[in-house]
Amino acid sequence: MSSIDYSQKIPNNVNLSDDRTLQRALESWQPNFINWWDDVGPEGSTNFDVYLRTAVSVDPNGWAQFGHVKMRDYRWGIFLNPGDAERKIHFGDHLGEKAWQDVPGEHRANLRRIIVTQGDTEPASVEQQRHLGLTCPSQYDLRNLFQVNVEEGRHLWAMVYLLHKHFGRDGREEAEALLQRQSGDQDNPRILGAFNEKTPDWLAFFMFTYFTDRDGKFQLSALAESAFDPLARTTKFMLTEEAHHMFVGESGVSRVIQRTAQLMNELKTDDPQKIRAAGAIDLGTIQRYLNFHYSVTIDLFGADQSSNAAIFYSSGLKGRYEEGKRDDDHLLKGQTYKVLEVQNGQLVEKEVPMLNALNEVLRDDFIKDSVAGVGRWNKVLEKAGIPTRLTVPHKAFNRQIGALAGIRMSPEGRIVNDAEWAAKKDEWLPSPEDFAFVASLMGRVVEPGQFANWIAPPVMGINRQPVDYEYVRFN
Ligand SMILES: [Fe+2]
Ligand SMILES: [Fe+2]
Repeated sequence: MSSIDYSQKIPNNVNLSDDRTLQRALESWQPNFINWWDDVGPEGSTNFDVYLRTAVSVDPNGWAQFGHVKMRDYRWGIFLNPGDAERKIHFGDHLGEKAWQDVPGEHRANLRRIIVTQGDTEPASVEQQRHLGLTCPSQYDLRNLFQVNVEEGRHLWAMVYLLHKHFGRDGREEAEALLQRQSGDQDNPRILGAFNEKTPDWLAFFMFTYFTDRDGKFQLSALAESAFDPLARTTKFMLTEEAHHMFVGESGVSRVIQRTAQLMNELKTDDPQKIRAAGAIDLGTIQRYLNFHYSVTIDLFGADQSSNAAIFYSSGLKGRYEEGKRDDDHLLKGQTYKVLEVQNGQLVEKEVPMLNALNEVLRDDFIKDSVAGVGRWNKVLEKAGIPTRLTVPHKAFNRQIGALAGIRMSPEGRIVNDAEWAAKKDEWLPSPEDFAFVASLMGRVVEPGQFANWIAPPVMGINRQPVDYEYVRFN
């Protein structure tokens, strides 16, 4: 069951050929997906042969096979982790009951909404990243971008499979709509804010894959606990793919910092203008990008208090991060959690029912995980003997969603008036001038083993290939 049948038009490990109706429905969606890829997928990449990994089985050690493929011929398919027929629901009001193989009628609307919202982010990020290939800093990085893009395409397949298999006609309509909304579109945008932002350059791409793909990790982890077993099994497999996306972000930012630190030492300066003149990205700009991507991403977890979050948990649709490893009662009734709000111009903590605060619980888990990687970036600076440190901004900085939306706050967490915000905004968030400068560095480097001046080479290549391997054949 766990090995993948590649002889089918749609590779899968779910015995798709046993269900002709479903197979036909998905086969009729498939050309629309390819059209979408051709229209808004990676620009100008049609003839490239890219060194990509493809899943061969969902077992940990048969995971991937590497080879040069054209992206539109990538074997997108449907892969679920193996099921456990005895699996029990382990949180919420149905605790101890058998996990569901089908969607219970009373939870249908909420489950569909959860799946559509997750599904919508997958093609959105491909759209956001579609121009980046034109300015890649190396073949190695170009290959990583394309790997992320094809896997986001597969994540869309994963959600579309659930919609087609379990939600009938409206599921099929939702699957079509996933190909029709478009990131940043005036009339028909993607559902969530961060997925309508631009990813204009490679520093933004690395920040996005570090922070926003990590949001993906936490959302998928919460869904991997779901009482709806097909959702739990498909998100578990998606998580193994997500790990690589976060690696691309973490190592990408790390290599940018490494190059900047090297030039700071060579030129014996911390003057941002001198670093810029030497063709690298000054630490202030890196910090401002970090502030932006962090604040936009933590908004994705939703309002700090949410009755929907309580319903999703109590009904077993969405658990907490690592629900199974927690040793409380998994019901959470009568428990409280601290959230922030502004009272009389001051930030104060307020105890609220934990069930209503589960978005905040997940956001706080995400924050802990994010901070750890920022610490690893700071190690690069420490090793280079540079005293500057990167930090994540205060949770209330630059928020658009929940009780903290619209508060004027410095990255350190001080409430500021409109005049100070206006005066300091460009020190705290990337300014048009920062974007223009970073854009000016984005030239295309495609000779094997060559890297743009603003980024250090990686320590290792992909799949133990050398760093100067021909990761992309341009034909
Ligand atoms: Fe994804
Ligand atoms: Fe991802």
